[in-house]
This record gives sequence, C-alpha cells and structure tokens, in this order.
Amino acid sequence: MAYLMALDQGTTSSRTIIFDEGGAIIAMAQQEFPQRYPQPGWVEHDPEAIWQSQLDTARQALAKAGIGARDVAAMGITNQRETTLVWERQSGRAIHPAIVWQDRRTAAHCAALRDAGLADMFRERTGLVLDPYFSGTKLAWILDAVPGARERAARGELAFGTVDTWLIWRLTGGRVHATDVSNASRTLMYNIRDHCWDDELLAHLNVPRELLPEVRPSAADFGETLPDRLGAPVRIGGVAGDQQAALFGQGCVAPGMVKNTYGTGCFMLMHTGEVATPSRNGLLTTAAAQTDATPVFAIEGSVFVGGAVVQWLRDGLGIIRSAAEVEALARSVPDSDGVCFVPAFAGLGSPYWDPFARGSLFGLTRGTTRAHIARAALESIAFQSAELLAAMEADAGLQIESMRVDGGACANDLLMQIQADLLGVPVLRPRVTESTALGAARLAARYVGIGSDPSSPDGEIERAFAPAISRDEAARRLARWRDAVGRSRAWATE
Ligand code: G3P
Repeated sequence: MAYLMALDQGTTSSRTIIFDEGGAIIAMAQQEFPQRYPQPGWVEHDPEAIWQSQLDTARQALAKAGIGARDVAAMGITNQRETTLVWERQSGRAIHPAIVWQDRRTAAHCAALRDAGLADMFRERTGLVLDPYFSGTKLAWILDAVPGARERAARGELAFGTVDTWLIWRLTGGRVHATDVSNASRTLMYNIRDHCWDDELLAHLNVPRELLPEVRPSAADFGETLPDRLGAPVRIGGVAGDQQAALFGQGCVAPGMVKNTYGTGCFMLMHTGEVATPSRNGLLTTAAAQTDATPVFAIEGSVFVGGAVVQWLRDGLGIIRSAAEVEALARSVPDSDGVCFVPAFAGLGSPYWDPFARGSLFGLTRGTTRAHIARAALESIAFQSAELLAAMEADAGLQIESMRVDGGACANDLLMQIQADLLGVPVLRPRVTESTALGAARLAARYVGIGSDPSSPDGEIERAFAPAISRDEAARRLARWRDAVGRSRAWATE
C-alpha cells in the first residue's frame, strides 16, 4: 500500500493527514499556534511557529499511522494563502514576522495605488482588486519597514514566499525556492494571462524581482525533503493554496462546479475551465490547481470572517466555552429576534472590498440573550456566503443548482440548513469534509502517477440540506442583512 501525506498549514493551526491511495484518512495530527495582534487590524504569525508546528504534525501523523516516511509515495502541501514571509537565503531566517492575509495595515497603500489610477491594470493582469488582503503590498511593507531590506533583496540575498514556499524551502533545506500558480495568483504580482511575474506591477509595488520564487504547476516536482526532516526523503509532488486545493479535492474540475469552504473565512470558488472570467460583481479571478501544462481558472468570493466569528464568541466575548457549543446555543432560540451581526472584524472582502468596515451588532434590545447573538453569528456566515453565490451567478450568467461544502464549520447542521434556506438550492455535504488536504494529496498522487482522480462527486455526499423557507422570505432576510452591512461600512479611519 502506498500512502500520501498532506501538509495543511492553515490560519490557526497546522495539520497533517495521511491518506491511503484511495483517499481514505489513515491518521491525522493537528497543532494550533499563536496569533499575534500587535495593533488593531494587524495580524502576524511567527514563521518559526508555522514551520515547527507543521513539522511536528508531520512527524506525529507518521507515528499515529504506524508507517515511516519511506512508505509515503508523495507529499502534497496546501496552505493559508497570501500570508507573506521574507527570509535570508543564507541563514534561512525570516527578517520579519509573517504578515497574515487578514492584516489590514496596507489599506492606505492600496488606496494610494487606486488613486494613481492603477486598479484596472492590477485587475486585468492579476484578477485581483487593490485590497490589503493580497501579498504584494504586504511584501512592500516589509521591504520598507526592515532597514536595508529592499537593497538586500535587489542583491538577491532575500527570498519572498507565501507559506507553501516557506515550507518547501525549509523541507528541502533551501534547495527549492518555488510556488505553484494558485498561490502565485494571490500575490498581486503574478500575471494570470501571461503566466509570469509582471515587471510593470513589480515596479508599481517597488518590489525587486530577485526576491521571487519560481512558479510551477500545482502537480509538479517541488523537490525532496531532507532525510532528517521525516526520517527519509519524501517527494513533494503537489502544492496549492488551500481554497484551490479544496476545489480540486471536492472534484470540482469542470466549468460551473462550485464549492464553499467554511474555515477561518469562507471561500466560494467556481471552476471556469480554461477561461479566466473577469468579474463585474466584486469577485476575483484566480488560478485553479493546475495538473499539467494547461492553465485553468476559477472565480472566487472571499469572506474574511466565517468560522472565526465562532472563535470570537469563545475567545473575545466569552459566551461559549468551546466552538462546538455554538450550535446548541443557537438552536435554543427559534430565530435571532431581530439581531443582525456583521462580523467585519477585518473589513469586508467580496463583494464589498471595504478595508475600513468594522464589526457591528444591530437590533439589540433588553430581551437579547447570548443565544440570539450566537444565532445571529451563524446567520452572518450564511448571509455572507449567500451574497457570494448571488455575485457568482451574475458573473457566470447561470443559475447554480447546488453547492458543495467543506471545512470545519460545515459539520454544523443548523448553519447548513440556514445556508440552504438563504440560497434556495440544496447544500451538499461530502462524506470526507477534509477536502483541502485531500486535494493536496490528490495533486501529489497525480504527479507521481498513483491513485485515482477526484472520483464522481455525487458518490461522496453524506447529507443534502434542502431549502425550507420561501424565496420571498429569503429575499426579505437578505435585504435586512444588506442594510446592516451598509451601516457597518467606512467605520475605521486608518
Ligand atoms: O485566503 C485565505 C485562505 O487561504 C485562508 O484559509 O482555511 O486558513 O481560513 P483558512
């Protein structure tokens, strides 16, 4: 039996899953690591904590599976996207904490680029909007903040990478400095039409080209891990950003297929085949996981706070002790009793792109309880996702017949029901909801030529949630939500 190892480096935890050739989970290990919030709107990770937690889970997963690295046919890496790291090529040490995708510190830089009339150029070439979400302005910020960094970068002494690149570098002992197209397409520096780093965009961002990794397809040779990392060398054969990996893992490889992942944020992607569809409704055009020489694309809606709102109920507000409690608490009331919660903690992503929006709770009365707030929090996840689907249908000019879901919060039956009610289409939950890791494993399997392709998606459904409210009622609720969003916008001043 050949095994596949998927490293899944997420926003709040590092995980490793060992699959068998058929895609069944053999063992899993997970480790949370610290989040740092040095200023309002800033989010950082310690690069060493990312690396060490990821390596630990890889070792633990092998031990739990009772196998050695020699039994692993290939490794796939999938990761929180956009998070930006810069390190010294010589020592392998990062020169600054990782700036996380949720970080808003470059909002003013993005506004300046927009004011300079560059938004269309960035959108046409990268498929992205000028928002602090993406890596380009974060990288520029590090080069400005660390004395001498830009000069050192130009001399070729420094390396930039998203988290995939950082892990590949560490796993291969600095032999490979590479990323895949799906991660590159989230940087604001990669031209998705010409398939290369774009010198003109780099000049506008003041980023030296010498820093940048080589870009490869998602199923490709990314080198071999050093023997001391896992006990024996393992071939890295698959790399993709977590959302594109989930799309692949869900078997959404044909135009029009859609999945929504409920993780820290919510990310809805529709595969568009070989066509890079521009969005007119606040979505992004992005590279999908690429298994051969042919580039493929997706349109994406990105919501910054999805499952993270439940974490905030636990850690910020303290009204639940564990995330699992939220469903029972929200079910203890029939509705939110007029409470509407806009969790714009990190501004708003698709379709609004407002880095200055902030979280807001509306409709509080003396009768409001923590149960109503919990219910409104779950509803906020579903409302945000419903807005993405509406934008996607408008962009694609078609009506979606069902939506596939995955990610931690899709285990929440109440949330899935609310989601189906708002969308008006069945919400399909697969048996294996670890689609992100499965996608990375399948990409690696594809490269080494073992295992099956994503099997027929319909065969893997565990439960379908059917809409249970009228379309008029859904429209009424969505209108109320949009009103609340409007009131949350442009709140922060910097
Ligand atoms: O774009 C950010 C996304 O990749 C983060 O994913 O699963 O860590 O919320 P996740």
